[in-house]
Amino acid sequence: MIQDALVKGFISRFGSPPARTFFSPGRVNLIGEYTDINGGYVLPAAIDLGTYYAVRSNDTRTVNIYSETLDDQKSIALDPSAEPAPEGSWQDYVVGLLYDFHKRGLDGGGLDIFVSSDLPQSSGLSSSASFTTGLAFLLNDCWDSGIERVQLAQAARRVENDFVGVHCGIMDPFAVALGKAGHCIYLHCQSLEYDLVPVNMEGYDIVIADTQVPRRLASSAYNDRRAECNAALEALRKHHDLDCLIEASGEDIEACAELKSMPLPYKRARHVVSENVRVEQSVAAIRGGDLARFGELMQASHASLRDDFEVSCPELDVLVDAAMRVPHVLGSRMTGAGFGGCTVSIVPTETVTDFIDSVGKAYSEATPYEARIFRTHPGDGVKRLDD
Ligand code: GLA
Repeated sequence: MIQDALVKGFISRFGSPPARTFFSPGRVNLIGEYTDINGGYVLPAAIDLGTYYAVRSNDTRTVNIYSETLDDQKSIALDPSAEPAPEGSWQDYVVGLLYDFHKRGLDGGGLDIFVSSDLPQSSGLSSSASFTTGLAFLLNDCWDSGIERVQLAQAARRVENDFVGVHCGIMDPFAVALGKAGHCIYLHCQSLEYDLVPVNMEGYDIVIADTQVPRRLASSAYNDRRAECNAALEALRKHHDLDCLIEASGEDIEACAELKSMPLPYKRARHVVSENVRVEQSVAAIRGGDLARFGELMQASHASLRDDFEVSCPELDVLVDAAMRVPHVLGSRMTGAGFGGCTVSIVPTETVTDFIDSVGKAYSEATPYEARIFRTHPGDGVKRLDD
């Protein structure tokens, strides 16, 4: 159905049918928040919502790209000698990626691209990584560039870090590129070694609740957290030989007087190191079929993100508290960068409808917003749809 609408949309915009269609998922992080930028473990899954693309070569030297979501079209001249600068619009992701491909000598000529999405934007489900990684996959496929998925994820991250100027980690593009239906990805963010872990939900569902809160100060606060983690690492390095914060133990942190004299870096480090352990414990719990234990670890993760890392917000806390009041819910926590965005909960399948009703009601009573609550399933990474 979505594919039909995609093809129709392409035809009405560009006049004739597309040659290829693609889907690039969003992601939900099950546990392991802010560990990626500190060299640790994460446990995300690709989801069944995402970004759709229809594309055709246009025999010119221009990439024309239309976003249905934004109802906006950009036309970008392909010029391998150009040194573009960001302009502060969505076009930056496209220009940055073309620039990244050009720097590697990759250029297969002009394209017409129609983009549509069923992923809530700016809500912690990685709409930008979905868009950028999907576009990297599409360019690689249409231009026959022979780039592996891990490298496509790295290219998408470079665009966000070096061109757009968002200092995010590798988790999101990696989950978008490497996801597999029915699995989550146990990724070590420093080595990029990973395992696909089967998620056997046995009568439970993964439910996402979107606060629909406009994300306040999200990117500046994200960069502040990075700086505080780096300050913690510098203090610990005076006593330990560390490549990244995650290599410190809880004992190292408690034993470091200098770190303890810096309240924010101390709390940030405490979160990061404890969260990393929770990811390892969660993988063991999920592999062992112990979803109740995984739920406890989700609770501890949320408390640590709220109290030590301070990236939750009242609306996320309302959703988590309301979720945990629904009988037999195993766990609930904020997912992604925080400051708004979504929670993820493990809910018995037979009570999902009650969950949606009661959490939605509690949320609209306690806040000026309406929550958007839906179940999701671990899905495939970016893929071609017309094959
Ligand atoms: C955002 C970033 C990720 C990660 C999370 C927090 O989603 O893009 O790299 O740092 O926040 O875990």
